[in-house]
Amino acid sequence: MSHERMLRRADLRVAEGAAKVTDTFRLHYHLMPPAHWMNDPNGLVYFQGYYHVFYQHHPYGPQWGPMHWGHARTKDFITWEHLPMALAPSEDYDAGGCFSGSAVEKDGVLHLFYTGVREEGGKLIQVQCLATSRDGIRFRKDHRNPLITNFPPEGSVDFRDPKVWQHGGKWYMALGSGNDGRGKVLLYRSNDLSQWDYMGVAAKSDGTQGTIWECPDLFPLGDKHVLLVSPMGTEPRRVLYAVGEMDYEVGKFQAETWGELDKGPDFYAPQTFFGTDRRIMLAWMQSWEGEIPSQKHNWAGALTLPRELMLDSARRLQIRPLPELKRLRADLAFASDLVLQGETRILPSCSLQERGLEAVLRVDLAGTSAAQFGIAFGEGIRVGVAKGDWRVYLDTTRASRGHRGRYSCKLSSGQEKLEIRIFLDRSSIELFGAGEAACLTARVYPSSPELVPQVFARGGVLKASLELWSLSKRG
Ligand code: FRU
Repeated sequence: MSHERMLRRADLRVAEGAAKVTDTFRLHYHLMPPAHWMNDPNGLVYFQGYYHVFYQHHPYGPQWGPMHWGHARTKDFITWEHLPMALAPSEDYDAGGCFSGSAVEKDGVLHLFYTGVREEGGKLIQVQCLATSRDGIRFRKDHRNPLITNFPPEGSVDFRDPKVWQHGGKWYMALGSGNDGRGKVLLYRSNDLSQWDYMGVAAKSDGTQGTIWECPDLFPLGDKHVLLVSPMGTEPRRVLYAVGEMDYEVGKFQAETWGELDKGPDFYAPQTFFGTDRRIMLAWMQSWEGEIPSQKHNWAGALTLPRELMLDSARRLQIRPLPELKRLRADLAFASDLVLQGETRILPSCSLQERGLEAVLRVDLAGTSAAQFGIAFGEGIRVGVAKGDWRVYLDTTRASRGHRGRYSCKLSSGQEKLEIRIFLDRSSIELFGAGEAACLTARVYPSSPELVPQVFARGGVLKASLELWSLSKRG
């Protein structure tokens, strides 16, 4: 069947599926598929006035299956427009699926790079492919595909997820791979986006950072370069970043510091792009492990809120939700200064049925002696700060569905005020604290959308101010 027909057939199945998607756990302000399965964000790019987001999509059911590329675009990251399917597995070289990849514009043409997969002798053969478009909507696969057919000796059959970018008049492609138990980033270079020359291993695991590196991303940030990788073979899964220096002549990235990008259980395969004037990141907001309750309702997977990446003066990675997401704020449901001592304050109830919720907690640290303080959104979702060790945690150990655990990240200490922003949607929570990559992302599935938030302080006084905003796309 032609690519064109496969795309139309897939679109039809998503439309049919969408009619059967029930509202339980549907998100209000995150990008999710109209129906069926989604995983990694792909091909993030600003093209002809829109931010385009593609994603790994199985249009035929709420489980992972032969991968297509779903497609949506936005002008403001508030309102999303779903577009026709961009890629379907239609050729011998991608008969098993169109895996993750990236996008760049050259001479007014949008170029999508992806990994074509096919089964052969029990193995999943992975080759690198190109599809192009002038209107950013209909894509044609390149007749020279596959552009890269074999993995180099330093790699293995796991050889995927091309991330392409331009530097100094040349094009570079980072590919995820690994061998000998070490995840690797393999680097290629091109003058014309079609003929690619292998340069070597740009970065590799130190032996503890996973066996295969998926979805590598390598980009300039400030006066440094940053590498992101999603490793397989670590327990638990961790998404890593490194800040360092890139030598484009020899094709080597020298990591100076390593860290974890998000300490929550539902954050994977992040990808960044340069959206006109800043570095923006989205990630898959779900995980390969554990139960996905929305599958019973005919859909699975969503993307995180778009986040901006920056380096502070000490070259530490800072991550914040895009400032324009404040436009989601519809009503201020609660705003007050609080002084609490060994007590719990019950806040006005809110419903996640129609709208999301943002909580902004600003703590006056000089006036706060409490050893622990935070906000609980019902028993299954507790956010707290342990003052002694300067960690903010998300505790879902009592959740009835989804991941149960206590996840935490380090806050930067030694400041006078501490701000924590928490975004709740019908089935997700994202937390942003002050400090190096201080983010926690999780899918949560409250059995009732009616929440009664509570602020608590233990072992001393909490002096803070709190705002609760209801969030709506219409706001
Ligand atoms: C990461 C990943 C990628 C691959 C895609 C397949 O989540 O495993 O390496 O391209 O998902 O859907």
